[in-house]
Amino acid sequence: MDAIVVSRDDREPRVVDRPRPTPAPGEALVRTLRVGVDGTDHEVVAGDHGGFPDGATELVLGHEAVGVVADANDTALSEGQVVVPTVRRPHGEPSPHFQRGEPDMAEPGAYVERGIEGADGFMAEYFTSPADCLVPVPEHLADLAFLVEPISITEKALDVAFASRSSFDWQPESALVLGNGSLGLLTLGMLDRRAAFESLYCLGRRDRPDPTIDVIEELGATYVDSRETPVSDLPDAHEPVDLVYEATGHARHAFETVEALAPNGVGALLGVPAGDWEFDVPGSEIHRQLVLQNKALVGSVNSNAGHFAAAIDALAGLPDWLLDDVVTGVHGLEDFRAAFRDDETTIKTAVQFDTR
Ligand code: NAP
Ligand code: BGC
Ligand code: ZN
Repeated sequence: MDAIVVSRDDREPRVVDRPRPTPAPGEALVRTLRVGVDGTDHEVVAGDHGGFPDGATELVLGHEAVGVVADANDTALSEGQVVVPTVRRPHGEPSPHFQRGEPDMAEPGAYVERGIEGADGFMAEYFTSPADCLVPVPEHLADLAFLVEPISITEKALDVAFASRSSFDWQPESALVLGNGSLGLLTLGMLDRRAAFESLYCLGRRDRPDPTIDVIEELGATYVDSRETPVSDLPDAHEPVDLVYEATGHARHAFETVEALAPNGVGALLGVPAGDWEFDVPGSEIHRQLVLQNKALVGSVNSNAGHFAAAIDALAGLPDWLLDDVVTGVHGLEDFRAAFRDDETTIKTAVQFDTR
């Protein structure tokens, strides 16, 4: 079968021939429909994040998949069912987090991530997975269900951020999303499910005309250009915000977020910065604001089956125009390289392996 891999000495995705996998007991065989591409995939291809399976020189890419159960293999799934796989699998010493159904909280070393870190991903005509890592999806969502994994990332991050404000009657009215990539834009479109935000902002570094700025404005949000307005200047340029969602991977933003927040606000950090970037920050001021203004920063990574279930609901509630504008390309295997393009007309892409 065809699979898309990146190898150690050739940092470009390419198609190779791999044997079709056989499901072990407790696993199902899935025929892949579509697999999305995100910023993490670009980091994996570039060698900035993740790693190869033990002893391997190639990694099958892809962690945002949707497929159809081809062989249920005596599991509780049924053949023909549409499913999306979760990303983490246990590795090494058993971690209680996997037993509790919270793989997203497992410590480094206790997990691998399919298509990212130490385990082959889903960009192949077929993949196998433990049945309990396959979340059923309603059939009518199959075409877009490669978005369930990234949406689940935001479901988890917003749960964590809101939980950090649960000791008082927090009623956020303003939010700033840092980053106009696919994660940032999907999140901007999801925020009204959580609270009645009166003002939304989204930060990028693009000139107009730009398709991401069009999406931001169509969502009723204000575009903030980081080249003119650094994150820490948001209170002066616009207003301090109750919630910041960071999806740039730009390390400075983690710290500048504190200064963009209103008293009692929370910043959720999602980005994975590349390299070892050192810089100065106004440490005392940041520390003072965190303490004296009850501000919080939370980091959030990965997601579990509960977040996937919430993401299926969220996906079903996103407006069609937003999904049409954000998904800028679904490419067949003959044209898979187009799905890895990273230009200013590309927002979210997927590789299509098969149709239902
Ligand atoms: P992406 O498509 O690369 O989006 C990042 C966006 O941030 C880009 O649009 C980029 O703008 C913008 N950006 C970067 N630096 C900026 C700056 N200084 N000022 C303004 N805008 C800036 O990636 P993604 O898929 O949306 O993911 C976003 C981040 O979240 C990545 O770091 C990814 O690794 C991470 N992530 C984390 C998790 C998790 O579980 N924590 C899950 C998924 C993704 P340009 O395109 O104009 O350069
Ligand atoms: C994936 C997560 C993963 C994270 C860190 C993200 O792009 O969506 O599932 O945990 O990268 O590798
Ligand atoms: Zn991802």
